[in-house]
Amino acid sequence: MEEVTDPWAEVASSWNEDPGVVAYADAAMASLVSAISLGRETRVLDFGCGTGLLTERLAPLVKQVVAVDRSSAMVEVLAAKALPQVRFGVANWTPDTIGDDELAEGPFDLIVCSSVCAFLDDYTGTVAMLAGLLAPGGHFVQWDWELDPDADEPFGLTVDDIKQAIQGAGLEVVSVAPRFDVDIEGQLVQPLMGVGRRRTAGSPTNV
Ligand SMILES: C[S@@+](CC[C@H](N)C(=O)[O-])C[C@H]1O[C@@H](n2cnc3c(N)ncnc32)[C@H](O)[C@@H]1O
Repeated sequence: MEEVTDPWAEVASSWNEDPGVVAYADAAMASLVSAISLGRETRVLDFGCGTGLLTERLAPLVKQVVAVDRSSAMVEVLAAKALPQVRFGVANWTPDTIGDDELAEGPFDLIVCSSVCAFLDDYTGTVAMLAGLLAPGGHFVQWDWELDPDADEPFGLTVDDIKQAIQGAGLEVVSVAPRFDVDIEGQLVQPLMGVGRRRTAGSPTNV
């Protein structure tokens, strides 16, 4: 059987102690709270949860967070936190397999992907798959590095990539823009925050 290597295994044990990563999680959480109302009835899916940095900030404010990640090493670190209101698991969901996992049981009022989408093999397909788990009026929120095509090693997503993925998933594009600066190893960077919303019956479609 082909051995599948986990690119996150090496960093999992130190991920929570990386100051840039922690600053990113704090800033993402602040941007989330200012964009979306969270409450005791809110069910959240943290897709690509890693070690649960966003999960642990969200859990005290909501009814439940379901936290999933493809990396078992990252999920092990989250598991050790024993967070209340959190269900978690290792998941490598595809549109064909997602129905087999009870953790994917929606509806969710909010789905968050913090620094995940640019790493996905099938970004647009994954957003469409996740959009199917949203409650009417529910939000999909992602944060990602903005792609600089002139960089030595281009990585990330453009505003148009994000708008197209959200729209292609049948969601209303609420906004796609930088919402915070974060200091990563002495360099100030501005990730993009994309917000989509599942329409309620009778709400207008994108034009
Ligand atoms: C940069 S880390 C971010 C982790 C966490 N969201 C955070 O903000 O600390 C990217 C994460 O995406 C996860 N990931 C990548 N592709 C995935 C997939 N197809 N399904 C689930 N998780 C995935 C990786 O395993 C990794 O934990």
